[in-house]
Amino acid sequence: MEFTELIQKRYSVRAYKSDPVEKDKLDHILEAARMAPTAANRQPFRLIVTRTEGRISDLKRVYDRDWFFQAPLIICACAYPEKGWVRYDGKSYVDVDVAIAMDHLILAAANLGLGTCWIASFNVDAARDVFGLPEELDPIVLSPLGYPKDQPSPKERKALSDLVHYEIW
Ligand SMILES: Cc1cc2nc3c(=O)[nH]c(=O)nc-3n(C[C@H](O)[C@H](O)[C@H](O)COP(=O)(O)O)c2cc1C
Repeated sequence: MEFTELIQKRYSVRAYKSDPVEKDKLDHILEAARMAPTAANRQPFRLIVTRTEGRISDLKRVYDRDWFFQAPLIICACAYPEKGWVRYDGKSYVDVDVAIAMDHLILAAANLGLGTCWIASFNVDAARDVFGLPEELDPIVLSPLGYPKDQPSPKERKALSDLVHYEIW
């Protein structure tokens, strides 16, 4: 897809077909995340790819929405806080790094006709347990990955004038 069309077409998919995600497509999507820029090129993230089949009761503990485990795969994007770049004033950029990698992944998925949905309101303790995360790894965002079964709604966005302030002319 042309880039402008891609960013218009990507939407939060909240109904999925159970059709499998082809391995070459998954590899392509993960490679897009690998190419993401990170602060000081620290690459302080880890993507956990989980199959949903046979794991519904576990996954319900993480995020209790039927559409969450309809897709064949779930991606859990995690940060290594100790490995990320920290600014002089103490601000860590690990969450930004994870978000950029996840956005690359999500746009690459949309470009292949696959659906995703950013999920932040999950149960962190359950995610740690279900995805087997070590203590040094923080789960930041989840997404199902699968073929969409729903249709996008019209995009609701603020006007550009509410989001941009020009100081240069
Ligand atoms: C950081 C982040 C966290 C989000 N968390 C959730 C979530 O927990 N559950 C959910 O259903 N959608 C979640 N969303 C999806 C947003 O609601 C959605 O992106 C927004 O309403 C715009 O709609 P669109 O993605 O279809 O363009 C999240 C999005 C972002 C970027």
